[in-house]
Amino acid sequence: MIPILKIEKVCKRFGGIVVADAIDLEIHAGEILGLIGPNGAGKSSLFNLISGIYPIDSGEITLMGQSLHGLSMVKRAQSGISRTWQHMRLFPSMTVLNNLVVASRYYEAENLRALFFQSGKVKSLQAEKENDAMEILVRMGLASLSNSPIADLTFGQQKLIGLARALMNDGPCLLLDEPMAGVEGQSYETIKDIVRQEANRGRAICVVEHNISFVKDLCNSAVFMFNGKLLERGSVDDLLASKTLEALYFGGQKTIPVS
Ligand SMILES: Nc1ncnc2c1ncn2[C@@H]1O[C@H](COP(=O)(O)OP(=O)(O)OP(=O)(O)O)[C@@H](O)[C@H]1O
Ligand SMILES: [Mg+2]
Repeated sequence: MIPILKIEKVCKRFGGIVVADAIDLEIHAGEILGLIGPNGAGKSSLFNLISGIYPIDSGEITLMGQSLHGLSMVKRAQSGISRTWQHMRLFPSMTVLNNLVVASRYYEAENLRALFFQSGKVKSLQAEKENDAMEILVRMGLASLSNSPIADLTFGQQKLIGLARALMNDGPCLLLDEPMAGVEGQSYETIKDIVRQEANRGRAICVVEHNISFVKDLCNSAVFMFNGKLLERGSVDDLLASKTLEALYFGGQKTIPVS
């Protein structure tokens, strides 16, 4: 079975900092892969390389067998790479509903030509997007907040909206950067349920998370990243039993232990 996302020998450095050191990774349909590692390991950078924020120095990234080489961030999103951001990038004065609508995979209202010459079509597509957005908000138990400005929401609710925005892109690959940071209570359970549902729908999901019990609960397998390298991979339990991970992640050791 061809993987949804395939990363081959991907390298990236910023001056002296190597954020991706010959990364090889595959994520398959229905899989929830955990990506764990200490602060500065390169986890968010890897998401930025996949989603086209930064160009890679070398290597290859393919989505369902198609190279993403040279594709902009927008084209990659339209190809089906959807993501959340570690530091939520919401529009605070816009309503919840509009924050979702502008995150859809194809947002026709950005096309000035269509706005001028096909305004009726744009309006009906806009109504469709609003319906899609409402469906997602209902799934998340947030429908009553659809007309509230983001600035009025709690932090946990804003995290849910970050995920809801990612779901407006129904593509096959979903990248979640610390979806649980600062989240507790009901929002925690909701995020867990939604991520599971999306995997059951056949999406390939990669989750960066420091909340290890969340990773344990949710992920089929995980990889451990340190200084731009993927050092270990396996079941979450195997990784948690690893001495290397213990030293570098929980022990705060700065260099890879010699075995
Ligand atoms: N655009 C950039 N220019 C220069 N250095 C960068 C850039 N982006 C990231 N870095 C550096 O790359 C390293 C990896 O950063 P990254 O944000 O990917 O880490 P992370 O694993 O996501 O950490 P955290 O768990 O704290 O979110 C850090 O040293 C960071 O300062
Ligand atoms: Mg990060």
